[in-house]
Amino acid sequence: MSSGGNSKLWGGRFTESTSDLMEAFSESVSFDRRLYRQDIAGSQAHARMLEKVGVLGAEDAKAIVEGLDAIRAEIEAGRFEWKSQLEDVHMNIESELTRRIGEAGKRLHTGRSRNDQVATDVRLYLRDAIDDLVGVIDRLALALLDLAEREADTVMPGFTHLQVAQPVTFGHHMLAWREQLMRDRSRLLDARRRTNVLPLGSAALAGTVYPIDRAFVAGLLGFDGVTENSLDAVSDRDFAIEFCACASLLMVHLSRWSEELILWSTPMFGFVALPDRFCTGSSIMPQKKNPDVPELVRGKTGRVIGDLQALLVLMKGQPLAYNRDNQEDKEPLFDAIDTVSACLRIYGELVPSIAVRRDRCAAAAAAGYSTATDLADYLVKKGLPFRDAHHAVGSAVARAVVVGCELSDLSLDELRGFSPLIEADVYERITLQGSLAARNHIGATSPEQVRAAIARARKSTGG
Ligand code: ARG
Repeated sequence: MSSGGNSKLWGGRFTESTSDLMEAFSESVSFDRRLYRQDIAGSQAHARMLEKVGVLGAEDAKAIVEGLDAIRAEIEAGRFEWKSQLEDVHMNIESELTRRIGEAGKRLHTGRSRNDQVATDVRLYLRDAIDDLVGVIDRLALALLDLAEREADTVMPGFTHLQVAQPVTFGHHMLAWREQLMRDRSRLLDARRRTNVLPLGSAALAGTVYPIDRAFVAGLLGFDGVTENSLDAVSDRDFAIEFCACASLLMVHLSRWSEELILWSTPMFGFVALPDRFCTGSSIMPQKKNPDVPELVRGKTGRVIGDLQALLVLMKGQPLAYNRDNQEDKEPLFDAIDTVSACLRIYGELVPSIAVRRDRCAAAAAAGYSTATDLADYLVKKGLPFRDAHHAVGSAVARAVVVGCELSDLSLDELRGFSPLIEADVYERITLQGSLAARNHIGATSPEQVRAAIARARKSTGG
């Protein structure tokens, strides 16, 4: 470098070199290097297109494509030297390409800007990440289905207000979790549609003077189409925000499951035992076995919601078009992808090995007057208006509380004191099994319906 100049790729108009402090402050290669594969694929597609439209000679295009292949191999072998003075992944790779192939490397950036380049890289990266996540979701959803099948007949208390409400099957509860997950899956695939659109060709902000063929590039990179407006395409990161919103909702679901698993694995509930290999002990209390996986998942939920928050606030003050603020999109986005992926993966391993303690579940369901509604429904079937039935059963529950017994422990005479409509057949109706079996329509908790729901799910997913 001549003294007083600046050796950066963009350094022509500068009279002094960048300060060390500025270099450290503005570099992104320490975290955006993970876009290297997308960056190389994007550059190769761009070079092929420039060749096709006659802007780049065949030899130059070939040298670029091959040079980038070699650089990718070097990166993957861990031999590539990333330099923070070269700012970001894009300039690291382009500089190395030029060092290797000379003149041709300097022609690669024709008709392109880092603004449309980075937007393309991030969209490609996110698209592939969504595809990966959907695969992980499918494995977890299948594990839930298998667990639901195993526990289709297992009775447990269903809760409202965390008070025992009505008996449900454990299988039904697992299918509820699965429903949440399947909606998350479909939200991600919906976000993918808006992500998988090619910004390249927007150049810095206004498009380019070269006769580019954007559809050709889109085809090479597997995009579904090209963006319609260059100003919008280089600047908006709504696709990343949308992903983080989907990821946050997904984490909220996993967090709710976690809360239940944490409660259920306490000695007081004792509904489930989590496998030792996913728990830890206490360094002071020898008896402890802690449910770390659900606790960490619940904790990491805050982090992903924070990623969403960061991106929303990052975007809210930005005028068109590209602003350097957008460099800050990557860490939250990558963090959300990594965190969701790790949580889904560990739940995919944990769920199949949840040991359900059926005796404890049944005892808890039997203990909380969970079939009181069934008794009211019994009276309704005998002609009593529901409100009167509700009142009569409420009195019977109050009596049982005083005596310290369950409804089915009250004698027929005692029960008839609350309503003369009650007869001996009442007892089979207020058992846990009777209560479950009676809820026998689509969407309800009976073992028969749980099995039918599992069969429908298997049919629709081929699982
Ligand atoms: N590292 C930058 C980013 O992540 C790349 C684009 C830089 N563009 C620019 N005009 N400085 O957004």
